[in-house]
Amino acid sequence: MHNETQQPTAILLFGATGDLAHRKLYPALYEIYKKTETPFAVIGIARRPWDHDRFREYVHSSLTENGKADRNEFLNRFYYYSLDVNNNEAYRGLKDLAERLDREYGLGGNRLFYLALAPEFFGTVTLNLKASGLTETAGFKRLIIEKPFGRDLKSAEALNTTIQSVFGEKEIYRIDHYLGKEMVQNIQVIRFANPIFESIWNNRYISNVQITVSETLGVGERAGYYDRTGALLDMVQNHLLQMTALTAMEPPSRLETEDIRDEKVKVLRSIRPVTVESARRDVVKGQYTKGVLPSGESVPGYREEENVPEDSETETFVAAKLFIDNFRWAGVPFYIRTGKRMAVKSTQIVIQFKDVPLNPYTSTFFAQEPNLLVIHVQPDEGLSLKLNAKAFTHKWDSKPITLEYCNNCSDVLGGPDAYERLLGDSLRGDSTNFTRWDEVALSWQFVEGITTAWKETNTPVRFYPAGSMGPAESDALLARDGFHWWPLTRINKN
Ligand code: BG6
Repeated sequence: MHNETQQPTAILLFGATGDLAHRKLYPALYEIYKKTETPFAVIGIARRPWDHDRFREYVHSSLTENGKADRNEFLNRFYYYSLDVNNNEAYRGLKDLAERLDREYGLGGNRLFYLALAPEFFGTVTLNLKASGLTETAGFKRLIIEKPFGRDLKSAEALNTTIQSVFGEKEIYRIDHYLGKEMVQNIQVIRFANPIFESIWNNRYISNVQITVSETLGVGERAGYYDRTGALLDMVQNHLLQMTALTAMEPPSRLETEDIRDEKVKVLRSIRPVTVESARRDVVKGQYTKGVLPSGESVPGYREEENVPEDSETETFVAAKLFIDNFRWAGVPFYIRTGKRMAVKSTQIVIQFKDVPLNPYTSTFFAQEPNLLVIHVQPDEGLSLKLNAKAFTHKWDSKPITLEYCNNCSDVLGGPDAYERLLGDSLRGDSTNFTRWDEVALSWQFVEGITTAWKETNTPVRFYPAGSMGPAESDALLARDGFHWWPLTRINKN
C-alpha cells in the first residue's frame, strides 16, 4: 500500500502563522518527531515579517507541556520565510532556502508542500511553485491541500486542472481530517473482518442508517468564512459523505489505496441525485437562534454573531435522507445530520436492524427496541451493540441490553490525533486516507443538487434554539418513515 517508513523530507508549510498550523500541525509534527525521529525540516511560510527565532517561539507555544524535553532539537528544524504568495519573484529565495536545507539535513530533495491557506490561493501558489523551479527536485514532490476544495463543482474542476498541471494525481493529498480518525478508519475493519456483521450488512436486515456529526461550538471567529459556506459545504460535502461511503461500500478487492477509493467512488456514484422535489421533502436546512447550552451557557443566535448579516440564510444545520441505489442498499434510508450549537458534541453512526418477523418475547415492563450497532466516532471511540435478552422475571419477558467496547476510555492510551496520522501517511507516501479527485467531484455533484434546489425555491432556514438537536423538521423527516433519531449515547455512561 505504501512505504513503511517516513522518508527525510522538507515540509514547506504555507499558512504557517495560521490557526490550523498552531492548533493541529505543529503538535502533530512534534508527535511524529518523538515517535519516529523522521529527519525532516520545516519551512514556515507566511506574510508576516518574522525571523526563524520568532517562528520557533510560535511553534513552541503550540506544544503541550507533555514531552518538552527534546523540544529544542525539534524546534531547531523550523525555519521561516516571509512571502507574499502572489509575488512570483519572491519564490526564488524560498527555493534557495529549500536547497540549503536539503543539503544540511540530507533530505534527498524530498518536498512536501502543505497549503494551510484560504482556497483562493491554492492555484496561484501551485503555479508559482512550478515557475520558481521548486517542484523540480531530485526527490519526491507532494502537495497537501486543506478543504474546501472549490466552492462548487465548476470551481473545483478549474482548481483541479491548475493543480494537476503541476502535481500528478498520486502526488496530491486532499485532506478530509475525518479520514484520519481512529473509528472512521475502523469502519472497514468492523465491517469486513466480522462475518456476523458483513453477512447482514444489507437491505434485507438493515432498516435504516443514521449518521450524525453534532457540535456544540458556534461559528465564532470563522463567521466570515462560514457565512459564505454553510453546513452543507463545510461538513456534508466532505466528512458526512465520506462516512456514508465507508459505511456503504463493498469490500475492496485488495487493501490497496486505489481499490479502497474505487469502492467509495461506486457508492458516491450510486447516491440518488437530489431534485427540487426531493430537496423539499428530504432535506432540512436549519439555523440556530439564541439558546442555552447544556453547560448552562447562554449563547447568541447565528444572526447575532459578529460578522454575520442580520438576515443571513446560511444553514448551520442540515439533515437529509439519502438513498443509495444499488443492489445492497436499495430501499434503505440513510439519514445524515450535522449542526453547530447543538446539545452535544458527538459523532456517531447508528445501524438500525430490522425487527424479527414475529416476536413473542415482548414485555409489559420493558420497552421493545430493535438491534442497534453504534459506531462511536467521538468523543468516545468504540462500539456498542444493543440486543434483547431475557429479563429477570418469571415470564418470557425480554429487555434491551448493551454490549460495549471502548477504545479510548482508559486515559492512558490516547491514539494519535487525526492530523498526526494524516501527516505521517503523507510522509510515507500513503494517500489511502485522502480523497481522490473523482470522490471530490461526485461529492460536489451531489451537494449541488441541494444548493440548486434551495436557490430555485428560495428555501428559507428553519430555526432551532442553540442547545437543541436541530429544527422540528429534522425529527419529522424520520417520523414520516416510522423512525426517530436515536439518542447520542456515551459508552458506559448511558
Ligand atoms: C471542519 C469544519 O472540517 O470540521 C468545522 O470546517 C468543524 O466547521 C470541524 O467544526 C469539526 O471537526 P471535529 O474533528 O472537531 O469533529
